[in-house]
Amino acid sequence: MAWIEPLTRHDRLGSPVLLRIAKEADAASLILHVEACDRESSFLSRESGESTATLLEERNLIRRYAEADNALFLLAEQQGKLVGTLTYTGWRLKRMRHTGRFGMSIRKTHWNQGIGGILLDAMIAWARSNGVTRKIGLEVQHVNERAIALYQTRGFVPEGRLHREMRIEGEWVDVILMSLWLDEPPV
Ligand SMILES: CC(C)(COP(=O)(O)OP(=O)(O)OC[C@H]1O[C@@H](n2cnc3c(N)ncnc32)[C@H](O)[C@@H]1OP(=O)(O)O)[C@@H](O)C(=O)NCCC(=O)NCCS
Repeated sequence: MAWIEPLTRHDRLGSPVLLRIAKEADAASLILHVEACDRESSFLSRESGESTATLLEERNLIRRYAEADNALFLLAEQQGKLVGTLTYTGWRLKRMRHTGRFGMSIRKTHWNQGIGGILLDAMIAWARSNGVTRKIGLEVQHVNERAIALYQTRGFVPEGRLHREMRIEGEWVDVILMSLWLDEPPV
């Protein structure tokens, strides 16, 4: 069971941000959030309109995250509105359960207000204490300077590069793999 208690933090402007685990009743607003983020940013994998999750699929997804001991589906809300999400997916096989990937997206109106950092810090604290996770991975487009800068402030380091992994509006985009080791980093 991946659980953290709801937490209140404050963004750069001093406004409260509520962090809590997604529940099945959030499915409809999560579908809208994903559609909006896909529209607002080219830094995600999907183009606008490519998200196809039904309400039932989204509910099942949320339940699977809540049941796994190495997965986390975290929401950030401001004034009762969903403004950001972070999902960490730990791998299922025993040899790789200690690691996985996360992704995050914040509504464009709320970029650069510290919410991404707040979500990251909560995930790292959860990972340190869940008894399973030892290494956190992510994939980021090489052009996503804001995200790369943010991940570096939390100790993530580049571990590899997939050349021309994406093609966005006619341009090749590389994907950088970054990792954070919760114990000693390998030499
Ligand atoms: C990337 C994202 C999650 C970051 O969240 P956020 O709430 O905007 O980030 P924060 O405000 O916590 O931190 C951003 C940091 O990057 C810095 N930054 C912003 N633009 C930057 C740029 N062009 N170059 C370098 N650093 C930059 C900010 O100054 C801030 O650093 P600081 O805390 O030291 O001042 C969010 O912008 C987002 O959802 N973007 C669209 C989707 C996306 O890219 N998801 C990640 C895919 S890997």
